[in-house]
Amino acid sequence: MPIFYGKAALIEFLNSIKTPNSTIGFVPTMGALHQGHLSLMQQSLAENNNTVVSIFVNPTQFNNPEDLKKYPRTLELDTQKISDLNANIIVYAPTADDIYEGKIVSQDFDFDGLENQMEGKFRPGHFNGVGTIVKRLFEIVSPTHAYFGEKDFQQLQIVKKMVSKNHLDVNIIGCNIYREANGLAMSSRNERLSTSEREQASIIYQTLLEAKEKFKTQNCIEVKKWVTDVFDSNSIFDLEYFEIADEETLIPCDEKSKDKNYRAFIAVFVNNIRLIDTISLK
Ligand code: PAF
Repeated sequence: MPIFYGKAALIEFLNSIKTPNSTIGFVPTMGALHQGHLSLMQQSLAENNNTVVSIFVNPTQFNNPEDLKKYPRTLELDTQKISDLNANIIVYAPTADDIYEGKIVSQDFDFDGLENQMEGKFRPGHFNGVGTIVKRLFEIVSPTHAYFGEKDFQQLQIVKKMVSKNHLDVNIIGCNIYREANGLAMSSRNERLSTSEREQASIIYQTLLEAKEKFKTQNCIEVKKWVTDVFDSNSIFDLEYFEIADEETLIPCDEKSKDKNYRAFIAVFVNNIRLIDTISLK
């Protein structure tokens, strides 16, 4: 399996395999790969001539230094999982220097307000970091299609906005959330949960499903209050936020409008581990 640690060699290789109509599918990751990542790779493999996967724990998107320090780094295991899936996948696992060339700072982006809601409120600077790394990776890989999981729905909308504002020639594809058997959305952070926390974390998706049901007959404030009450009476999981927002603008809903598509967003803490999830309310 071709694996590159520097952009110059990767670009040279990609140029050498390029043919007039060939496509590159790209799956950016921070490693600690799980079935959710592998399903993005499978989709890319099915839809493109070549697939590139990047593995890079991007420092500029962590607002919490402790979270950055504890983020799992499992490159050997990750490359094994990728080659087991398909030995033709091209892996790019750069150093911070290869990406940031000595200056580990984010660019300032204007995402038309998408960055001010939910994750943006609780993780200042996070989306500038995401925008910086994704734009940089797109410049290096020049993908035809790029695949992002819908678990990070706000990130997905922000990447789409960044692509359209910068007139980048890449098609962004949002992919369904991959869940564990109990409904917990797959995440690299799940590895840090104890067996019992992992089992009990099914409360997150179960609550989203019930909120969706309630949203058919109740207004946004009522549903929000119900979710807050659920977590107030739970001693293990701390609710950071639950929001119902317009999928397009991510502006929180106070009164339902018929022409909008709504989505629920949640972030909870268990034992200092932050888990997020989302569901369409359509
Ligand atoms: O979703 C992620 O894993 C990261 O935010 C991404 C898109 C790889 C950028 O570092």
